[in-house]
Amino acid sequence: MRAALLFLVFSATAVSGKSNYDLIDPLIGSVNGGNVFAGASLPYGIAKAVPDVSGANTAGFSLDGSNITGFSTQHDSGTGGNPSQGQFPLSLQPACEGGELEKCKFGSKYERAVNYRPGSVEAEPGYFGLELGSDVGVEVTTTEHAALWEFDFTNHFGKDTVSPLMLLDLTDLQDSRQNASISVDAETGRMVANGTFLPSFGVGSYQSFVCVDFKGAGVRDTGLWVNERGGTEPKELFVNRGYSLFYIQAGGFVRFHKPENNVLQARVGVSFLSSEKACHNAKTEIPDWNFNRVRAEAANAWKEKMSTVSILPGGANESIQRTFFTAIYRTMMSPQNYTGDNPLFPAEELYFDSYYCTWDSFRTTFPFLTIFDPGTLSQMITSLLNIYESVGWLPDCRMQLCKGYSQGGSNADNVIADAYVKNLTNIDWSLAYSAIRNDAENEPFDWGVEGRGGLQSWKRYGYIPVFDYDTQGFGPDYHSISRTLEYAYNDFCVATLAAGLGETADAEKYLQSSGNWHNLWKANQTSSIKGNNTGFIGFLQPRYANGTWRYQDPIECSPLDSFCSYSSNPKETFEDSIWEYVFFVPQDQARLMETVGGKEQFVRRLDFLHESGLLDISNEPSELVVYQYHYAGRPGLSAQRLHSYIPSSFNASHNGLPGNDDSGASGSFVAFAMSGLFPVAGQNVYLISPPFFESVSYTNAITGKTATIRVTNFDPEYKEVFIQSARLDTEVYTRNWIGHELFLEGKTLELTLGREESDWGTKEEDLPPSTSPDGSMEGYEAMF
Ligand SMILES: *[C@@H]1O[C@H](CO)[C@@H](O)[C@H](O)[C@H]1NC(C)=O
Ligand SMILES: *[C@@H]1O[C@H](CO)[C@@H](O)[C@H](O)[C@H]1NC(C)=O
Ligand SMILES: *[C@@H]1O[C@H](CO)[C@@H](O)[C@H](O)[C@H]1NC(C)=O
Ligand SMILES: *[C@@H]1O[C@H](CO)[C@@H](O)[C@H](O)[C@H]1NC(C)=O
Ligand SMILES: *[C@@H]1O[C@H](CO)[C@@H](O)[C@H](O)[C@H]1NC(C)=O
Ligand SMILES: *[C@@H]1O[C@H](CO)[C@@H](O)[C@H](O)[C@H]1NC(C)=O
Ligand SMILES: *[C@@H]1O[C@H](CO)[C@@H](O)[C@H](O)[C@H]1NC(C)=O
Ligand SMILES: *[C@@H]1O[C@H](CO)[C@@H](O)[C@H](O)[C@H]1NC(C)=O
Ligand SMILES: *[C@@H]1O[C@H](CO)[C@@H](O)[C@H](O)[C@H]1NC(C)=O
Ligand SMILES: *[C@@H]1O[C@H](CO)[C@@H](O)[C@H](O)[C@H]1NC(C)=O
Repeated sequence: MRAALLFLVFSATAVSGKSNYDLIDPLIGSVNGGNVFAGASLPYGIAKAVPDVSGANTAGFSLDGSNITGFSTQHDSGTGGNPSQGQFPLSLQPACEGGELEKCKFGSKYERAVNYRPGSVEAEPGYFGLELGSDVGVEVTTTEHAALWEFDFTNHFGKDTVSPLMLLDLTDLQDSRQNASISVDAETGRMVANGTFLPSFGVGSYQSFVCVDFKGAGVRDTGLWVNERGGTEPKELFVNRGYSLFYIQAGGFVRFHKPENNVLQARVGVSFLSSEKACHNAKTEIPDWNFNRVRAEAANAWKEKMSTVSILPGGANESIQRTFFTAIYRTMMSPQNYTGDNPLFPAEELYFDSYYCTWDSFRTTFPFLTIFDPGTLSQMITSLLNIYESVGWLPDCRMQLCKGYSQGGSNADNVIADAYVKNLTNIDWSLAYSAIRNDAENEPFDWGVEGRGGLQSWKRYGYIPVFDYDTQGFGPDYHSISRTLEYAYNDFCVATLAAGLGETADAEKYLQSSGNWHNLWKANQTSSIKGNNTGFIGFLQPRYANGTWRYQDPIECSPLDSFCSYSSNPKETFEDSIWEYVFFVPQDQARLMETVGGKEQFVRRLDFLHESGLLDISNEPSELVVYQYHYAGRPGLSAQRLHSYIPSSFNASHNGLPGNDDSGASGSFVAFAMSGLFPVAGQNVYLISPPFFESVSYTNAITGKTATIRVTNFDPEYKEVFIQSARLDTEVYTRNWIGHELFLEGKTLELTLGREESDWGTKEEDLPPSTSPDGSMEGYEAMF
């Protein structure tokens, strides 16, 4: 098999000189909870096609040893929550026993699941293939809104009289169908369907449309199936959900004669607008049914995107390179470009969907696009503003035209401020300002899906009280500590845009409230682990509206205690402990340092967090914590920590992610980290650490300028990870951080490394900015 051969070549040799594209492995993160979409897609594409499995199928496919339930064309990547999309899967049976239709299997997709040969799996950007246990080869490639599937029976012949039966199942991965219709064309075998489904982490429902055409075999008969039975009459069907626990299994089928050239093709057009649009999409994007053309064009689209970045490996091995380029690849899975194919906006209005979720992606995903794909980021932010204008609120989490659940603050504010301080072009900043000011000022009725809750208390007490009394709006009324921290940072971001737009009074007001995190600081709070006092004093604690403290053990929700997810075990901190949340004050590290007792205490706390088992590197709040030594003048310790997580927790194995990729949030973290920078999202600040290669360059597609981060004496064994000195172009550079000018002006940052910490980047004037303890914006002068 071609697939098997390719794999041998890949694993047997560490060939150098491979292109960025060759070093992408879509299977990284496809097992062990990474939930990465491993199938065929274009950058930001709606069509994301892959065989779905019965096991870990959040993104459709996983190499977890479970069987294939169908072949579907729409997915999300790296998400938590329920399995997303996978609507209208096709499924195949090479023949019905004795040619009798009723000997074929209908019923649920789980009853029809079939195995495949794990060694046959081949995944490349824009392409996915495998061989079923029945020896039928399956391959797929995609355009923006369509997939071309090929089922190859060459190796199957001789087993039985091939007369393939193709089912279209009126369901999705999570069996959330509310109702659906299908019609089957007896002449051509075309199946057209629509249905209403539920989002995987949100409210409401969405309509989805599909249009399937076949080529390569004559139609033998067509019809419908309901539960365990199929029949050739009638040709149209409407079903609802079912009754109580009973979910109706139903769909259409086409049975074919033996494929003439052994290959049966299925062309699947999708749309969120109408069946006509779904058929139109398929016909215009794949008029020629030419698999190789579509596959080559998909590959070219990826190659073009990947050409923005280049490296000199300097001896860093192929597995390290693969980790890097695949991480970048994953940042282009979401959001998906629904422009022109959605019922909410006219075709000319930009609309992206699958912001899943901003709580994860504000930190590094959107900041990564400011250097990697700024033109697309402008479109995404315009799309966020279009949503704001249309529904009245910026989205926080959003999928398939539905509102998703907010996990904390109104974090689109951070995305917008980040783009603003990086001078992103083509954005209506005054509209952006009204959108984020709306988050800060007005409480929505349902703040579980947009905006912020408890705003009256926030304004009155300067924190979100535990058990808040709030009659204005409703949402998951816990997370009072993490919401207080996130709202404080959101306000800092609002202040940044206000200052930039000359709204001085607003800027001062929001800067004041960005200091609100301090109101939950309980100076005499201690923390013990299994009865052993950690020796650290002063932690955030929940607080009632009357000012009295409530107690939450600082280690609760950490890996040493139990996980606090959105839907179970809710506490006053979301998905993370007080121990780690203490550090989420990106606007005011100087005051935090003072509050915990000075730089040394700050460093000791960070060390304890990393070494005690309290830190969960798989979750996004841990990203900043890797780098926070920079603020204490110890940039070398950040670099050292980073190397303790990459590649041991983020690597090129199929299980090479410690947790959900969260729509590319882990990918962008790894991409930045290996490039030698960490963005403090919402600020014109990148913390500097040595790259994992001799050099990394990004070319800005808008300005055409190339920025380079280079190591003069690069050590691929990573024994030398401590920066001794730096130059920015020709100038000596001593700050341990740098602004986006590096990219906009296309500068070169050159680092010289050594085996020991040095005094580079350690002086007070070399530290990243913080709001001053008096609440003025002095420390941020550089930004305005
Ligand atoms: C997968 O299918 C094969 C046969 O098709 C069956 O033997 C096996 O038990 C199935 N495995 C799982 C995990 O369902
Ligand atoms: C399908 O379900 C949706 C969501 O429950 C509902 O709004 C819609 O009216 C239903 N359509 C039909 C034709 O029953
Ligand atoms: C779904 O398909 C049925 C049958 O073709 C059709 O009557 C119905 O109008 C379609 N629904 C939508 C929303 O297009
Ligand atoms: C999104 O789709 C629209 C409509 O096809 C197109 O104009 C726009 O350039 C696309 N954006 C990206 C980033 O591909
Ligand atoms: C801790 O400080 C609070 C005031 O913030 C005080 O009420 C409490 O008694 C102190 N607890 C101890 C053990 O000192
Ligand atoms: C208690 O904590 C101290 C200081 O962190 C540590 O040295 C000691 O080993 C711990 N003891 C136990 C029983 O965990
Ligand atoms: C503050 O409110 C809490 C919760 O209702 C209550 O337990 C506590 O006694 C109150 N403290 C004061 C000083 O009234
Ligand atoms: C790769 O990463 C995974 C997930 O974090 C980890 O379990 C595994 O041990 C790592 N593999 C190597 C070789 O470091
Ligand atoms: C590649 O380099 C990394 C970092 O030095 C090392 O951990 C890993 O084992 C190497 N992998 C191979 C396949 O040599
Ligand atoms: C953004 O533009 C302003 C005004 O031209 C300039 O002062 C500032 O330095 C620019 N910021 C960056 C990050 O280049």
